[in-house]
Amino acid sequence: MQVHIEQVLLEVIEGDITRWQGDYIVNAANSGLYGGGGVDGAIHRAGGRRIAEECAAIRQRQGKVLPGDAALTSAGSLPFRGIIHTVGPIWKGGSANETAVLAECYSTSLNLACAEGAQSIAFPNIGTGVYNFPKSAAAQIAVTSVVRFIREKTAANMPLKRIAFVCFEPDNAAIYRELLESCR
Ligand code: APR
Repeated sequence: MQVHIEQVLLEVIEGDITRWQGDYIVNAANSGLYGGGGVDGAIHRAGGRRIAEECAAIRQRQGKVLPGDAALTSAGSLPFRGIIHTVGPIWKGGSANETAVLAECYSTSLNLACAEGAQSIAFPNIGTGVYNFPKSAAAQIAVTSVVRFIREKTAANMPLKRIAFVCFEPDNAAIYRELLESCR
């Protein structure tokens, strides 16, 4: 499922983000960049020890990565230009600024990717696993944030040509397909 917003191709892909092909993938990390389960575990397992070493160096240099913020590492042995580790909000019922923080995860990651000259980037469904953000609401925020980002950028400072939402779970993929359909 694909749709164009301005000159950027948005796509929904079902599967494992470590198998995607493109420049940068986004990780749903924790504030300490310690690695964990879910997509974080899959990326660290597939990319090898170097990613954890670079995460430790970031931790030493700047301390925690706050929710909504992001940090960049290499992709270790994975064939990407790098990994953008962003920290989603822990869902606490919706009254703890979770929506704004999740939107920030997308804009911060996209800004970082653009600063690196990325032509393509893939996002997992940040926050919707261990951090328990409701899936439909999270998808709505993801798509809205990405579309807004594309529309607000001028062509001159927008290197991105392809943005993928990689959904590990079929129900998330269905939600994203429906949302992108409505962007046509
Ligand atoms: N590829 C793409 N998506 C994946 C993969 C994978 N290989 N494995 C899991 N997912 C999906 C999950 O199905 C979920 O929809 O990633 C989404 C986000 O779930 P989590 O990985 O649990 O991320 P999050 O909810 O943001 O929680 C972050 O979990 O693993 C820890 O260290 C991490 O503490 C942090 C927390």
